[in-house]
Amino acid sequence: MTHLSNYGNDRLGLYTFANLTTFLRCWTNLKLHTLPPLQLAHKYFRLFPEQRHPLWQNPCDDKRHKDIWSKEKTCDRLPKFLVVGPQKTGTTALYLFLIMHPSITSNFPSAKTFEEVQFFNTHNYHKGIDWYMEFFPVPSNVTTDFMFEKSANYFPLEESPKRAAALLPRAKIITLLINPSDRAYSWYQHQQAHEDHAALRYSFYEVISAGHQAAAELRSLQNRCLLPGLYAIHMERWLTHFPPNQLMIIDGQQLRNDPTAVMDEVQKFLGVSPYYNYSQALTFDRQKGFWCQLLEGGKTKCLGKSKGRKYPPMDTESRVFLSHYYRDHNVELSKLLHRLGQPLPSWLREELQKVR
Ligand code: A3P
Repeated sequence: MTHLSNYGNDRLGLYTFANLTTFLRCWTNLKLHTLPPLQLAHKYFRLFPEQRHPLWQNPCDDKRHKDIWSKEKTCDRLPKFLVVGPQKTGTTALYLFLIMHPSITSNFPSAKTFEEVQFFNTHNYHKGIDWYMEFFPVPSNVTTDFMFEKSANYFPLEESPKRAAALLPRAKIITLLINPSDRAYSWYQHQQAHEDHAALRYSFYEVISAGHQAAAELRSLQNRCLLPGLYAIHMERWLTHFPPNQLMIIDGQQLRNDPTAVMDEVQKFLGVSPYYNYSQALTFDRQKGFWCQLLEGGKTKCLGKSKGRKYPPMDTESRVFLSHYYRDHNVELSKLLHRLGQPLPSWLREELQKVR
């Protein structure tokens, strides 16, 4: 039993199978039973529930698969790196800056989820790797072209790292981290702007402090607001599937304040060429209050209204609550960064000061 789509066209496999059953019927006392395909599938997965969920691998990583993989297909339509999120840390700004580079290409947009493919974290995964590859062009030069995709919800989802590592074991992974309290607040503002029913109904403090007895919609909103900020837990999961040298952790605050320095580091990490001088391509837009792409004629291209929103600062009560909520997780994150030999972002140092 295999989930690899190429076996669907493997006529030798069917021939062998048919002859094997004839042989068994003729020469043994075994009684063979079969069922219509759907019922057979249900029965099979009842017997082997662990195989219910596919884990796609790259067909070209195994010579046997590659030999029977259709000649019209290629394994080159896969990303070399992923920007995995989490949401509200500056992922769209990073995406915009990355696609300015002449050797870096993102996926084609999705009709449903816009620039994000959301393959490894949703039911899209069950559509298979052909579906995923359709989002990427055939690279003109496999060595120098860098294709990537950014799906900000990959970061906290349990299945994502395992699935990504199975299909893209050599891919580089980029994650951005900002103070998890600010991330939670930004996310709440985002939900309000999108008129999420629960976010309009409950104040930020009500959301973050809701107890176990709270209404289901409030608990659900709280989980989506707070859980992505448990950075150490999620990072450890990515690190069980990818070696540390394939993982880059960007300080989202630094990307916001000094994108040129961050993009220089990103280029080094990816090993992409030619070197692209972001200091000449980006400019600080006073009106927007953020760094934007500098276009010809001195115009700027900034991210839309939904990024860099104006909203009141977080109230002190919520700030204190969240510092306490994330305290142990921030300590764990600092240990993890120390282990990886990475510097601590300034927001993390400030949060650790509060622990003492
Ligand atoms: P706010 O809208 O709360 O300020 P994401 O793209 O991952 O959803 O992150 C959105 C956040 O990116 C914004 O949150 C903003 O603070 C931050 N950001 C960083 N650099 C930015 C830039 N150059 N333009 C707009 N937003 C930027």
